[in-house]
Amino acid sequence: MHRLSFLRTATAAIVLIAPVASAVDLGKHFEPGMLAEDCTPCHQGHGAARTPMLKTDRDTMCIECHQTGAAEPGRREALGMDSGADPADIRVEMVKPVIHRGASCVDCHSVHGIGRLQGLDGTGLDLGRQKPSPKRGFTSEANLCLSCHGTRSTMVSDPHDIGLLFDSRNPSFHPVLAIGVGEVPSLLPPLTSDSLINCSDCHTNDDIRGARGPHGSRVPGLLGADYSLQDGQPESESSYALCYQCHDRKIVLDSDPFPYHRLHVVDQRTACVLCHDAHGATAGRALIRFNEPTSITGVLASSSGRLEYSSEAAGMGGCYLTCHGVDHDPLGYGPMFTSKGRPKFADPERDGGFGRHPTGAQAAPRPEDRPDSRRQ
Ligand code: HEC
Ligand code: HEC
Ligand code: HEC
Ligand code: HEC
Ligand code: HEC
Ligand code: HEC
Ligand code: HEC
Repeated sequence: MHRLSFLRTATAAIVLIAPVASAVDLGKHFEPGMLAEDCTPCHQGHGAARTPMLKTDRDTMCIECHQTGAAEPGRREALGMDSGADPADIRVEMVKPVIHRGASCVDCHSVHGIGRLQGLDGTGLDLGRQKPSPKRGFTSEANLCLSCHGTRSTMVSDPHDIGLLFDSRNPSFHPVLAIGVGEVPSLLPPLTSDSLINCSDCHTNDDIRGARGPHGSRVPGLLGADYSLQDGQPESESSYALCYQCHDRKIVLDSDPFPYHRLHVVDQRTACVLCHDAHGATAGRALIRFNEPTSITGVLASSSGRLEYSSEAAGMGGCYLTCHGVDHDPLGYGPMFTSKGRPKFADPERDGGFGRHPTGAQAAPRPEDRPDSRRQ
């Protein structure tokens, strides 16, 4: 596009943006007292190659202002900022060990005309509610993330279809796309079984004083708090801090429907990730990953060749697997099992299924017996 014609378009855009600005919140960039109002903080003269006349290439330009010290007198004027400006430091995130590679700032942000990121200033959305997308054209933040990480993704390097794990037809999923179906006594307020959570509640900066969002973290997986993925690590408030932000540690370890959390996690030092997939499970209750097509290092089939979690309801279930050299063929909890986890009946599945009381009706269908292992 010829530069002059761009300037005309830009001027027309100002005319379009300006009257709208009073009616709709265009976001911080267009709030009085933040940036010089003539568009020059970002659009200038000839502009960098292959940009809509931006001062520098996109991400470099964003970072020039989004770093500590940029709004100090002296630098501030040169960058085109007013005295009210206090832009969040994103540069400090981008030098952390884990950063969000493969997407630029404008892949996730609309810089004009999007409105404020609600929730960031404490007056908008709180934990437990769906966040809006920081980029125009997506119904929610999760919708934006799944445009690259989900079924319709064009990304070739991502081995997982994360959208599939969050599908509300699954027997279990963290409630990102829909309200959950689990029995979850450990939820900490304000969360309830009607809450929704967001990708960026888990994937965010690891320093709560820093800029929110999935930009950078020292924790593998780009996580907002520690989450030990290594088997054999001691359990503590901090080793699984990510989960304990939303789940009461004491309830998980001592009084939830799985009576052997303490045995596994504290005594045997089994990492949560060995049993749970933090996103969802397409064929198992309680985010248990043993029925999924993907396996995890350290968990092998049982002596009868099965790798499976069978459970129809909270508080009862059985596992077929070998872990830490211990054969589970099966071992379980609930009315079909002794207090040591051994089956009370020769074949607990035949004698009533793990999910039912022995006097109950028919056995729980095994996943392979179902026409479609996912719920309709
Ligand atoms: C905070 C920086 C910033 C400010 C201030 C800014 N822009 Fe932009 N503008 C951008 C970026 C970045 C892009 C490229 C967006 C992309 O590639 O997705 C852009 C793109 C554009 C485009 C190309 C079409 C489009 O939307 O992608 C026009 C036209 C435009 N800006 C006009 C304006 C006008 C007029 C103003 C002043 C009222 C303004 N901009 C202020 C950063 C800014
Ligand atoms: C993968 C998507 C993604 C990318 C890439 C991304 N952001 Fe963000 N960013 C977000 C999300 C999501 C939030 C809001 C998080 C929230 O609401 O808790 C956010 C928040 C922000 C905030 C507000 C932080 C605060 O606490 O006030 C700034 C500033 C920001 N991003 C700038 C940038 C810049 C600059 C880049 C490029 C270097 C960038 N972002 C790249 C997704 C992204
Ligand atoms: C000229 C300086 C400048 C540039 C360049 C700039 N920003 Fe900003 N940005 C600001 C200021 C100032 C704020 C508001 C800070 C405050 O709340 O005091 C802000 C706020 C934000 C927010 C929070 C929005 C909200 O409504 O809460 C996001 C996200 C953001 N910028 C992203 C970007 C991205 C992406 C780019 C590059 C395309 C960029 N910025 C370029 C100065 C800049
Ligand atoms: C424009 C496409 C795009 C969007 C939108 C996007 N991502 Fe990504 N994301 C990527 C790519 C590419 C990678 C790198 C994949 C790789 O290394 O194989 C990645 C990697 C990640 C990783 C792994 C980081 C690591 O190193 O362990 C996480 C976590 C992540 N993204 C979360 C998010 C979240 C949360 C959102 C929404 C706020 C989001 N992404 C939006 C493209 C995207
Ligand atoms: C040995 C496998 C195993 C390990 C390791 C494990 N869990 Fe579980 N967890 C289960 C099973 C099985 C259930 C389902 C219980 C039921 O509903 O019958 C469950 C249920 C839960 C629930 C839902 C019930 C509640 O407490 O509200 C939460 C939350 C949970 N686990 C968190 C964790 C966390 C956090 C860790 C790591 C610190 C962890 N689990 C480690 C097997 C495991
Ligand atoms: C409850 C916390 C939580 C939520 C919510 C969450 N994640 Fe994750 N995510 C994790 C954990 C923990 C890991 C790393 C451990 C693992 O892979 O099991 C991870 C890993 C990832 C990875 C890298 C590994 C992989 O599987 O490809 C990507 C990409 C990712 N998440 C994207 C997303 C997106 C997109 C969303 C929202 C639609 C999301 N996550 C929601 C906790 C969460
Ligand atoms: C941002 C808050 C948040 C974080 C962080 C979080 N959870 Fe949850 N989790 C929830 C909510 C809300 C539910 C309730 C969903 C429902 O009602 O089924 C839930 C449900 C669960 C369930 C039961 C699911 C079912 O269908 O039975 C398990 C298991 C679980 N979480 C494990 C974990 C583990 C392990 C971690 C750490 C990787 C974690 N959670 C981190 C909010 C969170």
